[in-house]
Amino acid sequence: MFIFATSACQNFAKKIVKVTKLRPGRLEIKRFSDGEVYVRVAEDIKKQKVFIMGSNLPPAENLVELLFLINACKESGASFITVLMPYFGYGRADHWVKPGEALSAKVMADLIKAAGANKLITVDLHSPQAKGFIKTPIIHLRAQELLAKAIKIIIRGRTSIRKEVRPREVVIVAPDHGAILLAKGFAKVLRCQIAWMEKIRPRPNVAYAGALHGDVKDKTAVLVDDMIDTAGTIVEAVRRLKEAGAKKIIVAATHPILSGPAVERLKKAPISDIFVTDTIPLPPAKKFSKLHIVPTALLIAKALKRT
Ligand code: R5P
Repeated sequence: MFIFATSACQNFAKKIVKVTKLRPGRLEIKRFSDGEVYVRVAEDIKKQKVFIMGSNLPPAENLVELLFLINACKESGASFITVLMPYFGYGRADHWVKPGEALSAKVMADLIKAAGANKLITVDLHSPQAKGFIKTPIIHLRAQELLAKAIKIIIRGRTSIRKEVRPREVVIVAPDHGAILLAKGFAKVLRCQIAWMEKIRPRPNVAYAGALHGDVKDKTAVLVDDMIDTAGTIVEAVRRLKEAGAKKIIVAATHPILSGPAVERLKKAPISDIFVTDTIPLPPAKKFSKLHIVPTALLIAKALKRT
C-alpha cells in the first residue's frame, strides 16, 4: 500500500514508512507561474487503499495541497483513502466566541470530507467535541501517555542513582479550564494530584493567569496543554506557579506551534524541561536545549492497522 505526503509532511511520512510496510508513493507537486497548486499522483492506485499524510498548518497552500492530493487519489480510483493529520489546524475555532465568526474547524472537516477522505487519523484535537462535526470517520489518538512516560524519566532523575520522586511531590497543572481533562490523564499515569488555573483572554494571543486552584508549594509542577502557540498561556502560568511557590516547573504539550515570540519566551522562562511531540515539523531555529521532542510515528503506525 502507498503513502503519499504533501510537501510539508514529507519527513513525517518517511518516519511512518520506517515503521510500517507502506511504500512511499510518487507524486508531482508543482506551482504554476501564477502560484496555483498542481498535484498529480504518479502511481497506479486503482482499487487500492491509500494513505495520505498532510497538514493544514499555515500557509493555506498546505491545505490546498492536501485537498488536491485527496482528490487526485479519489479520481485515480483509490478504493479507500485514509488521511493522516498529526495536527488538525484551525481546530481552536470550534465554537462561537463572538457573533458572526467562522467555525473554521468545521469548514476544515467539511473540506477534507468533500475532497474524498474516507477516514481521518489525528492526534489530540483541541477539543474532543470537535469530533461531533467531523463527519469523516475518525481515529482520535492521544499523545498524553507518551508525554507522561517521557516526563516520568526526567522526574526520576537522569543520573544512575534513580531516585524516584514521590507522587505527592509532583502536581499536574492545567493552565485553563479546558486542560483539566488532559491534566487528569497525566495524573493517572504519574499517579499524582492536579491543580488548575483560571485563564483570562482579553483578545486572541493574549493570556493572563487568574486564580490557581490546588497546592503547588515546594512541588514539581507539570504544566500540560494541547498546544503551545505564542507561549503566552504557558509563561503566564509559569509566573503564577512561581508566585505560588512551585519548586520546579516542567511543561508538556502535544503540538509545538511556537509562533511569534514563543521560542524566546520559553527559553527565558524558569522551566526546566519542555516536552512536545513531532506532530508539527520544527525548523532548527525553533529547537533549543530544554525542548524535548517525543516521536509519535509508532502511535500513528499502530492506528493504521485499525483502518
Ligand atoms: C487554548 O485553549 C489552547 O489550549 C492553548 O492554551 C492555547 O492555544 C495556547 O496558545 P498560546 O501559546 O498562544 O497562549
